[in-house]
Amino acid sequence: MEASLNKGTSDADAPGAVIAEIAEELRFADYRGKVADYIPPLAAVPDTKFGIAVVMADGAVHTAGDAEEAFSIQSISKVFALTLALGAVGDQLWSRVGREPSGSAFNSIVQLETEHGIPRNPFINAGAIVVTDVLLGRLEPREAIGQMLRFVRELAGDDGIVIDEVVAAAESETGFRNRALANYMRAFGNIHGDVERVLGTYFHFCALAMSCRQLALAGRYLMNGGISHGHRVINERRARRINALMMSCGHYDNSGDFAYRIGLPGKSGVGGGILAVAPGTASIAVWSPGLNQSGNSHLGQLALERLVQRTGWSVFEPRSL
Ligand code: DON
Repeated sequence: MEASLNKGTSDADAPGAVIAEIAEELRFADYRGKVADYIPPLAAVPDTKFGIAVVMADGAVHTAGDAEEAFSIQSISKVFALTLALGAVGDQLWSRVGREPSGSAFNSIVQLETEHGIPRNPFINAGAIVVTDVLLGRLEPREAIGQMLRFVRELAGDDGIVIDEVVAAAESETGFRNRALANYMRAFGNIHGDVERVLGTYFHFCALAMSCRQLALAGRYLMNGGISHGHRVINERRARRINALMMSCGHYDNSGDFAYRIGLPGKSGVGGGILAVAPGTASIAVWSPGLNQSGNSHLGQLALERLVQRTGWSVFEPRSL
């Protein structure tokens, strides 16, 4: 079933009507945040873009705005990389990366010194670089990038998903902070492989280009206790745990505020995308390129806040009284 802008208001269509309303409300918002410019191709994306897609547990897809346009998913890829790394090495991963919110910027280096090169969590840059290194313990960069691409294509049921090589190259050219993080962790023995190979792979993950529709479809396994369109991707416990990490760490030093305002597991990227999960109910992707001070989509968060207010999808909403 498909609902797009201005279509029906029946119960089944309600999420479609709500997101159409939100897209309309935010279309002319005066303050839209600031588009990331430290990766040059991202700076060229107009801040007027806004898309949202909701995939319901019964498979219904609702979209509004620029929901079919691919954007750079950036750090949202950290969720998929974590899923693959847990699949490869299981709980051994947690000897190399923590599970606590950092309270620091996504690209911060400060905690690494006192914490001996162990990043606080897999969703900050340092953590995702370690996760990538773990994947490269068993695969060549080319194979790991291929595995990631096949994984997201399978999750979304869409072979049209690609990696934007222009973005990957630009990240490499400007990735001085990530190089510092990787080299610093290498000094502590927490990067095992060649730093340039690890970073090249990490940059390709970040450069995945997906639309809101593709991203919301890819998030189904987190909504459905590990199952995506009939296929088990991970077990239920692992899905619950990834959701917990998204709730506590998915928005960096803005994670507490995201939990307070929206109350859903979510993961942001500097391309302006957010993947949010209402377990058992919906997988949601929203995109608006303008960012807040922590590097999270300003209007994306506002849209999710309004969606949750109008649907009661927060995980903190009492289900039965
Ligand atoms: O490594 C970086 O800085 C980017 N490729 C990803 C950062 C990011 O998306 C932070 N998210 N909000």
